Amino acid sequence: MFLTHWLLLALFCDTYLHVNGWGLVGHSIIVRLAQSQLIDSAPEWIRSLTPWHWNGNLSAMASWADSILYEDNNPTGYANWQWSRMLHYVNIPDWSCDYQPERDCINDQCILGAIKNYTKRLVTEHDHIQQEEALYFLIHFLGDIHQPLHVGFRGDRGGNSVLGTFMNVTSRTNLHALWDVGLIAARLEKDFQKNISLYYDYIYQLMMDETSQIDDNLEQLSEQNINLICSQIYFDENNVTMNASVNFILGEIYYQRNIPIVEQRLVDGGRLLGTLLNRLAKTRPQQPSDKKSKLCSGTIALIVILGLEGVLAIVGGLLIWLRSKKKLSTRYSISEFSRT
Ligand SMILES: *[C@@H]1O[C@H](CO)[C@@H](O)[C@H](O)[C@H]1NC(C)=O
Ligand SMILES: *[C@@H]1O[C@H](CO)[C@@H](O)[C@H](O)[C@H]1NC(C)=O
Ligand SMILES: *[C@@H]1O[C@H](CO)[C@@H](O)[C@H](O)[C@H]1NC(C)=O
Ligand SMILES: *[C@@H]1O[C@H](CO)[C@@H](O)[C@H](O)[C@H]1NC(C)=O
Ligand SMILES: *[C@@H]1O[C@H](CO)[C@@H](O)[C@H](O)[C@H]1NC(C)=O
Ligand SMILES: *[C@@H]1O[C@H](CO)[C@@H](O)[C@H](O)[C@H]1NC(C)=O
Ligand SMILES: [Zn+2]
Repeated sequence: MFLTHWLLLALFCDTYLHVNGWGLVGHSIIVRLAQSQLIDSAPEWIRSLTPWHWNGNLSAMASWADSILYEDNNPTGYANWQWSRMLHYVNIPDWSCDYQPERDCINDQCILGAIKNYTKRLVTEHDHIQQEEALYFLIHFLGDIHQPLHVGFRGDRGGNSVLGTFMNVTSRTNLHALWDVGLIAARLEKDFQKNISLYYDYIYQLMMDETSQIDDNLEQLSEQNINLICSQIYFDENNVTMNASVNFILGEIYYQRNIPIVEQRLVDGGRLLGTLLNRLAKTRPQQPSDKKSKLCSGTIALIVILGLEGVLAIVGGLLIWLRSKKKLSTRYSISEFSRT
């Protein structure tokens, strides 16, 4: 009984980690970087696809695509979203070290297909809810595909079954989780007093200093991921290949070797997502439903603003009246004083 429970829990945690992508921090950094790059009509368009009170800030939605999958976050709906689980990654045969769409992404049921799908749906969908959904999936999957182990070996589920310890911490982790969150967490702790906004500023500066061309070829990006995996990520501090049968022990050397890659990927993810959203904002056809929904959220915002203004006007009027009354009475009292 206890054992089954434990096994289920372990399974759950592993699966959780498998689709969790960069974790909350990495995903929100990528989305923030992207939003900092938006120009022309893109910010307004994004605003029309987010609840008005967020003022177009997408960061909170960066991990929506993960959170819908779990009973904890989505107790009534999680079962309805399980079909989207496999869209967070693509698996290749172990150590095949190449990506072949017809073998690895059948019927587009993988992260590359999903990015294509939601890029298209974002601009062709007529239904507003569907557009929002497409946007939230897209911003997440574009982050995931920059985590190298989201293009992973099928046999160990993208590194989820490769277990070990990191930085002398006694609790066990796995290679996938290390790349999702472990390396970033170590960086935050070492150099940024665990302050995410300081870390964001640092990554933002890295992005601003970046001069290379933006490469928007996702198949090439997948090949780069695979190259990293086959030449670097699976090699421990003694350059011995890691696998699911032996527990790894990783620390400072592995961290120093790989953290620059992690940060470069955050930068690349932010740049590519920003470029994509700008491009879509420019090329999307103007749709009646889009106008309607814009009008709709616009109208709501207007009503709220007018309402707020009304309240402000009343409160302001009241304050001015009170103050003038107070001033008047003070003046009177002063003059009364001076008179006496
Ligand atoms: C967007 O929201 C995140 C938290 O959800 C916050 O850290 C960030 O500063 C916000 N960005 C802007 C531009 O307001
Ligand atoms: C495309 O998106 C729709 C709507 O979310 C989904 O039902 C479908 O499975 C997706 N297809 C792929 C290949 O991702
Ligand atoms: C881990 O422990 C070893 C041996 O006690 C020590 O030399 C090393 O500095 C520790 N590493 C970290 C990152 O704390
Ligand atoms: C993080 O750093 C920023 C900028 O220095 C600061 O304003 C903020 O209060 C810090 N946050 C925390 C939780 O320490
Ligand atoms: C592992 O390989 C790297 C790169 O080839 C090399 O710099 C390093 O010295 C090697 N480490 C060990 C322990 O052999
Ligand atoms: C796993 O790695 C260990 C250490 O390198 C090696 O001895 C073992 O043969 C490997 N197992 C498999 C199944 O590849
Ligand atoms: Zn994910």
